[in-house]
Amino acid sequence: MTSSASVAVDRAAVVAPVRRRLFGGFVEHAGRGIYTGLYEPGHPTANEDGFRTDVIELVKELGVTTVRYPGGNFVSGYRWEDGIGPREHRPRRRDLAWHVTETNEVGIDEFARWARLADSEIMLAVNLGTRGIQEGLDLLEYVNGPVGTTLADLRAANGSPDPYGITMWCLGNEMDGDWQLGHLSAEDYGKLAARAAKAMHGAEPGLELVACGSSWTGMPTFGEWERVVLEHTYDQVALISCHAYYYEKDGDLGSFLASSLDMEHFIRTTVATADHVKHKLRKTRSIGISFDEWNVWYQGRPPTESEAADAARIEAGAWPVAPRQLEDRYSVADAVVVGSLLITLLRNADRVECANLAQLVNVIAPIMTEPGGPAWRQTTFFPFSVTAHLATGVVLAPRIQVDGYESAHGTAPLVDAAVTFDEAAGSAAIFLVNRDLAESRTVTIDVTSLGLTTVTEALTLHDDDVYAKNTLDDQTRVGLTKNDSATSADGVVTVTLPPVSWTALALS
Ligand code: AHR
Repeated sequence: MTSSASVAVDRAAVVAPVRRRLFGGFVEHAGRGIYTGLYEPGHPTANEDGFRTDVIELVKELGVTTVRYPGGNFVSGYRWEDGIGPREHRPRRRDLAWHVTETNEVGIDEFARWARLADSEIMLAVNLGTRGIQEGLDLLEYVNGPVGTTLADLRAANGSPDPYGITMWCLGNEMDGDWQLGHLSAEDYGKLAARAAKAMHGAEPGLELVACGSSWTGMPTFGEWERVVLEHTYDQVALISCHAYYYEKDGDLGSFLASSLDMEHFIRTTVATADHVKHKLRKTRSIGISFDEWNVWYQGRPPTESEAADAARIEAGAWPVAPRQLEDRYSVADAVVVGSLLITLLRNADRVECANLAQLVNVIAPIMTEPGGPAWRQTTFFPFSVTAHLATGVVLAPRIQVDGYESAHGTAPLVDAAVTFDEAAGSAAIFLVNRDLAESRTVTIDVTSLGLTTVTEALTLHDDDVYAKNTLDDQTRVGLTKNDSATSADGVVTVTLPPVSWTALALS
């Protein structure tokens, strides 16, 4: 059965420019994210640094603009200087975040070279868990200082005379969580972050600093944490972070597909709190949001077959190198959720200034690799890649008319959408999701105000089996298909969305 929905697009309803940093990724020293993920010397595609060029090509196809590094929970115990200089002298350390051995074969210099090849900006996190202001300042001097001081000269001696020019810095990671090494109260973190930020600005004006916000909306401190932290840091930071991971719980697919309602609530509450502090402190500048970790993540699931042996070794007290951890395999439904979360991020681009899909390779990632073997795209790769490439110009706020349904996150519209319009290029893109578990939906989209008449591309992600996945043995089981139902006439685009699907339309 097919039901209907309508979307009205108004070129004057501009939300914000499409911010390229919304399409960020995240690389943490965790699991096989780096080792046998990005980096595998001896792999047939490895370059002179040991980086897999097959992975770099996929990262470019994904369209990632910014990559957060090196953590995550890992950063809260990390000594950045372990990862510089001749590899044979680098220490091996226990990483308490993931109970593994960190070999430090990859550090900031290698990662900067990798990021350049992947056309990505680096967003760097400093350790405010077990370390503090001095180590942050040292790292800043090492990566950004012009030659002529000891640490900048050391970088040059290690092969990079030119400063890396990293402007976005995270002041720690998830410091509100008791799982975090060096976890602090909001009061203590706010004071430390303010002092670290002030010192970093003193060393280098113009940095865009991110204070830790809440690790998810279920944190008992959510809201109050942001208020206290921002009261201490308001003058020093440009952004506050949000992190969110979603998964299907208890077979409730409808609620899972409505996960973006929680993301929307997260953004609005954080904005409201930041604006409260703004008015309380009589400030004129607003704080933006860095949604620097978001994805689908089946937290707490039993290990997959390939993870089981490594999980057992860790359980028995081993500290393995690059074990298989968090290697979630994503389904069509997971990809539809990723697509709908991107729709929400786009529609909130007035306050969400950057966002990072967590993570990039092997660890809850859109790209998977096999040591010595291939690299392939998970289902979640597709909505991200298409959105990152098609969304240009400005974000417009669409008016959507469609029935809703009850979910654990409240009443969810069966169809959700985001629209971008690039006047200079004479093009637009419409991203749509149909959350209906059973019915297709024919959506009429009034684009008269855009003056665009042709649907140049219509791509849909759907499968009769919503749990279909791409695996090592069947790497292309799920992909995008051309949606032949899309037509355009008299300023109205019509398209039929299959149940549980994500669709992108390009217009010119
Ligand atoms: O991305 C996996 C982990 O999730 C990160 O290390 C941490 O910041 C978050 O809890």
